[in-house]
Amino acid sequence: MVAGTRLHPSQLILPAFVKEGIAEPQAVASMPGVYQHTRESLRKAAHEAAEAGVGGLILFGIPAVKDARGSAGDDPDGILQQALREVNAEVGDAIVVMADTCLDEFTDHGHCGVLTPGGEVDNDATLERYASIAVAQAEAGSQMVAPSGMMDGQVGVIRAALDGAGFSHIPIMAYTAKYASAFFGPFREAAECAPQFGDRASHQQDPGGPLEEAMREVRLDLAEGADVVMVKPAMSYLDVIRQFRDSVDVPVAAYQVSGEYSMIEAAAANGWIDRERMIMESLIGIRRAGADLILTYWATEVARRL
Ligand code: PBG
Repeated sequence: MVAGTRLHPSQLILPAFVKEGIAEPQAVASMPGVYQHTRESLRKAAHEAAEAGVGGLILFGIPAVKDARGSAGDDPDGILQQALREVNAEVGDAIVVMADTCLDEFTDHGHCGVLTPGGEVDNDATLERYASIAVAQAEAGSQMVAPSGMMDGQVGVIRAALDGAGFSHIPIMAYTAKYASAFFGPFREAAECAPQFGDRASHQQDPGGPLEEAMREVRLDLAEGADVVMVKPAMSYLDVIRQFRDSVDVPVAAYQVSGEYSMIEAAAANGWIDRERMIMESLIGIRRAGADLILTYWATEVARRL
């Protein structure tokens, strides 16, 4: 009766991976309970999430062939576009179907952008790729796009490209404050996107950087047209979530990332913690910090329990 913080299934977004060219879903070793889906098993997972009342589904595609410019990312027949078409056609009226808009799953070097001859991520050349990928995703039925690469200006170019292609109604969920985090470790196995050299420190934020840096990112993203702003990871950045919630007038999302998931699963598998209680407590904490939406690999399980 007097609860100050509530969690509702519609506030949860399930991240899911779909891989090209596999006959059976493949378990992700570092994320017990998470799979690289086939198109078939993804459809089943999407139905389950929708039936449980989960609000959204964000898809990541893993192509059979990767190259330096991430060509599969905007190929109309690329794995992510195929999956978006199928899932949106089947459950798109019951759950918001969206795509992660980035390059790292599609590039052979594993970086979130195209590279200069010297091997640095080329911000402006990458923006052109993101614009094209976002349009391909919208054409395939993505109801929202979520640029996650932290390139400067990414929200603006994607907004302009979507508007120009007749998709002015498709909103953008911006990965706004994304930190260069060790908590992404297990995801890189799930999405097969570990950088082959270097790291993402040139474009992701320093965990010890000033809070004002996140605030500058959110001002820029909103000025460029972001409809939802995200903080990622969640648990180690609850202050950033709160700061966003107190400062902006759009929904704030938080991504409870792979490492946050795997820590709890691993400790539970050892019998050291109460798994269910810890999952719920972690999500309530993120809500209390001010997140309106939470991306979590437990979305379907938690929605059922709620
Ligand atoms: C980039 C992307 C990453 C995650 C989501 N989108 C990886 C990265 O930035 O290195 C991580 C999500 C997680 O750890 O669960 N496309």
